[in-house]
Amino acid sequence: MTLWSGRFDGAPDPAAFDFGVSFGFDRALFEDDVTGSLAWAAALAAAGVLAPEDSSAIIAGLQAILEEGRRTAGFVSGPDEDVHSFVERKLVERIGDAGRRLHTGRSRNEQVSLDLRLYLRRRIPALQAQLAQLVAACADQAERAGHALMPSYTHFRRAQPVLVAHFFLAHCAALQRDHARLAAAAAEADALTLGSGAVAGTSYAVDTVLLARTLGFSRVVLNSIDASSDRDFVAAFLYAVSLAMVHLSRLAEDLIIFTGEEHGFFELADASATGSSMMPQKKNPDPLELVRGKSGRAIGRLTGWLVTMKGLPSGYNKDLQEDKEAVFDAETTLGVSLVAAHAVISRLALNAERAGSASSGLLLATDVADYLVSRGMTFRRAHEVVGAMVRRLLAEGRDFSSLTMAEWREASSMFGADAPGAATALASVQARRTPQSTNPDAVAAALAACRDWLEANRGFSVKL
Ligand code: ARG
Repeated sequence: MTLWSGRFDGAPDPAAFDFGVSFGFDRALFEDDVTGSLAWAAALAAAGVLAPEDSSAIIAGLQAILEEGRRTAGFVSGPDEDVHSFVERKLVERIGDAGRRLHTGRSRNEQVSLDLRLYLRRRIPALQAQLAQLVAACADQAERAGHALMPSYTHFRRAQPVLVAHFFLAHCAALQRDHARLAAAAAEADALTLGSGAVAGTSYAVDTVLLARTLGFSRVVLNSIDASSDRDFVAAFLYAVSLAMVHLSRLAEDLIIFTGEEHGFFELADASATGSSMMPQKKNPDPLELVRGKSGRAIGRLTGWLVTMKGLPSGYNKDLQEDKEAVFDAETTLGVSLVAAHAVISRLALNAERAGSASSGLLLATDVADYLVSRGMTFRRAHEVVGAMVRRLLAEGRDFSSLTMAEWREASSMFGADAPGAATALASVQARRTPQSTNPDAVAAALAACRDWLEANRGFSVKL
C-alpha cells in the first residue's frame, strides 16, 4: 500500500515501482523526517486544523518512533516506497486513525526538500570539524618545521626558497576556504519549505515563520513553485565538497612527489604506506593516491547533479530524487578522504637536510638580481647580468656559493663583499617583506592567525 494507491485500480507493476523506491537510501533522512513532522503536527494544531487530542497522539507517537529508530538497529526498514511512507505507516500502526491526519495540507515534495535541508545542516558541521582537524595537523607540521627551508616551484621547476612552514600554511589557507564554503552551503539550505504544499502552497493557515523558528531556519522560501524544484543547496554542497576534494588532491599530489626518491623532502610513516607484491623496495603512497583519485568521484557527483537539474520544468519532478545519493556519496567521500589525509600528514617526517639542500643553488638568482637592484641597477639590467652568471655557472656545474669575490666583481662591479651573504636560502626568505610572504616573522604571524582560526572554529557549531 502506497501513500497514493487510492487513485489507482490495481497494484503498480513491481518493476516500475521498485525502480522508483528510494527507501534504500533515504532512510538516512529518518531523524530529519520525524523532526519535520513533529513541527508540522504542532503547526497544524496551532492553526486549529488538528484537534488537541489528535495532535498530542501524533506528537507522542512520532517521539516514540524517533526513540525506537535511534535505539533499535534495523528498525528503519520495510517494504515502504520511501522514508516518508515508512514514518507514516509506523505512526498509524502505533496510534491508529489519528496518524492519517498528519499529512493534512502537506506534500512529500516540500517534505523531502525540508528533510534534506535539515540533514545537511545537521551533518555539515561534522565535515567542518574534520577539515579543522586537518588544518591543525598542517599547522603542527608548520610549527615543527621551524625555520627549515625547501624550494617552492612554479611550472614545477625550482623557483625560490621558502620555509617548509609556509608550504604547510598554504594548504591550510585552501582548507580554511573550504570550511567557509561548507558554511555557505549550510546557509543556502537554511530556508523552510513547509507551507509550499505540492507546488501551489497550502490551504491551511499555518504560521510558517513560527515553523521556521521551531526548526531552526532563519527564513522561509519565497515561492512555492520554486521551493518544490529548488535544489540549489544540493549543488552548493556538492560544489563545496568537490573543491575541498580538489584541494585534498593537490595536497596529496604534493606529498606523493615530495616523499618520492627524487625529492625526499619528507618521509611517509610506514603506517601510511603500502608495499608491492613484487618489488621488495617499494613504499607506495596508496592513501594519498586514493584521495587524489576520489576527487574525480566527487566532481562526478557535482557534474551529474547539475546535468540532472538543467532539463527540469518548474515544480517537483521525480528526477530530483537523484539528489540524495549524490549528497550521501559526496559526504562519505570527503569524510573518508579527510581521515586518510589527516592520518598521513600527522605522521609525516621532514627530512630538513634534503629539503634544505634543494632550496639553495641557482634558485637564488632572483635574490642576486635583487641585490643589484638595491645597489641602484634597473631590474631589467640586473636580470640580464644574473642570467649571464647563471648561464656560466650552469655550464661549469657550479652555483653562486662557489663564486670567488673576483668572479662576483667580474660579473658586475656593483657586487660588494656582502653579495655572497645575500645569496643564501635563509637570506632569501628573510628578504621578503609582505605579510603573505615566506619571511620568517610573517610566517610566525600566519601560524598564530591559523591557530586563532582553529580556536574560533572549535566544536561542531556552524555559522549560518
Ligand atoms: N522520494 C521522493 C524524492 O526523493 C520523495 C518525493 C516524492 N514526491 C512525489 N511527488 N513523488 O524526491
